[in-house]
Amino acid sequence: MQDFNNKVAVITGGASGVGRSLAFALGRRGAKIAVGDVDKSAMEQVRADLAAENIEAIVEFCDVTSVESLSDLADKTESAFDHIDLVFANAGIGAGESGAMWDYSEKDWQWCLNVNMWGVINSIRAFMPRLIARNAEAHFVVTGSGNGALLVYPDQPIYTASKAAVHAITENLHYQVQAAQSPVKVSALFPGPHVVDTGLFNSGRVRPQELKKDVEGNESGISSVEDMKKMCEEFGIELQTTHPDEVAEMAVAGLQKDAFWLLATTPETDAKIRARADMILNRETPVPNMVGA
Ligand SMILES: NC(=O)c1ccc[n+]([C@@H]2O[C@H](COP(=O)([O-])OP(=O)(O)OC[C@H]3O[C@@H](n4cnc5c(N)ncnc54)[C@H](O)[C@@H]3O)[C@@H](O)[C@H]2O)c1
Repeated sequence: MQDFNNKVAVITGGASGVGRSLAFALGRRGAKIAVGDVDKSAMEQVRADLAAENIEAIVEFCDVTSVESLSDLADKTESAFDHIDLVFANAGIGAGESGAMWDYSEKDWQWCLNVNMWGVINSIRAFMPRLIARNAEAHFVVTGSGNGALLVYPDQPIYTASKAAVHAITENLHYQVQAAQSPVKVSALFPGPHVVDTGLFNSGRVRPQELKKDVEGNESGISSVEDMKKMCEEFGIELQTTHPDEVAEMAVAGLQKDAFWLLATTPETDAKIRARADMILNRETPVPNMVGA
């Protein structure tokens, strides 16, 4: 898709971080934006900020754990802007994991898989039939993570599992739209190349009351990128970060080439991916990677 002017983009989790940056990157190129999110104060802020830049937008409460909520967002977008050209299944959370997975609260698993994995499945079910039926150029973009899709970092098993599933779903979706000879393109967006400075590490702010942690002592103690930097310093690692606007620009540039992989890496990450492939091919016992190392 070369030209985003007058295109209609739906962005889940669009009130903060990567989603918010995508809203501005596309809006500044003339796209009409539909943001769905659950964080009411961030929604108010993004609504005001988009209006201040004269970007045509609707901002709606939409919980990606509910397919009905996503269908409602799709209906509202079509009522406001007639049709949909781009969908970003982007909403995601970090469960604040720490310690042994066998001691985790079941609610950590439920919340993270509900949002990260079922959020993508529900988004596919709510939006893909509309994109397929329209039979016009369109993009369905899923925000995954290298942690799960490409590598297995050792400290967040639920998040990693959710993103491994998300990647398998995204790649299959790509194969299926191709097999159906649909003009819809599927892309996998990997925020990076470094840890992206967003609200992800403070996801507890949008955690539903009924899924609050019910096990003490497995809090990660990390609620911001700053906390993560401090933790890395203790291990002698200087954590580099990426601004979410950079991720949005990388995504836009990739979409202009109809790319599947919206992936920016560093030579260090590339080396880890190669080492992982070699480890599998050589049947070596896995050793853990460190974030930022
Ligand atoms: N920050 C990183 O370094 C990084 C790295 C790789 C992947 N990601 C992925 O990027 C995506 C965006 O996250 P971010 O880093 O911008 O974090 P963020 O917290 O800034 O933004 C996520 C948004 O999703 C919303 N959200 C949470 N639960 C929701 C629900 N049930 N329904 C609808 N919206 C919901 C939040 O309110 C928030 O506005 C996520 O899928 C995340 O896993 C982030």
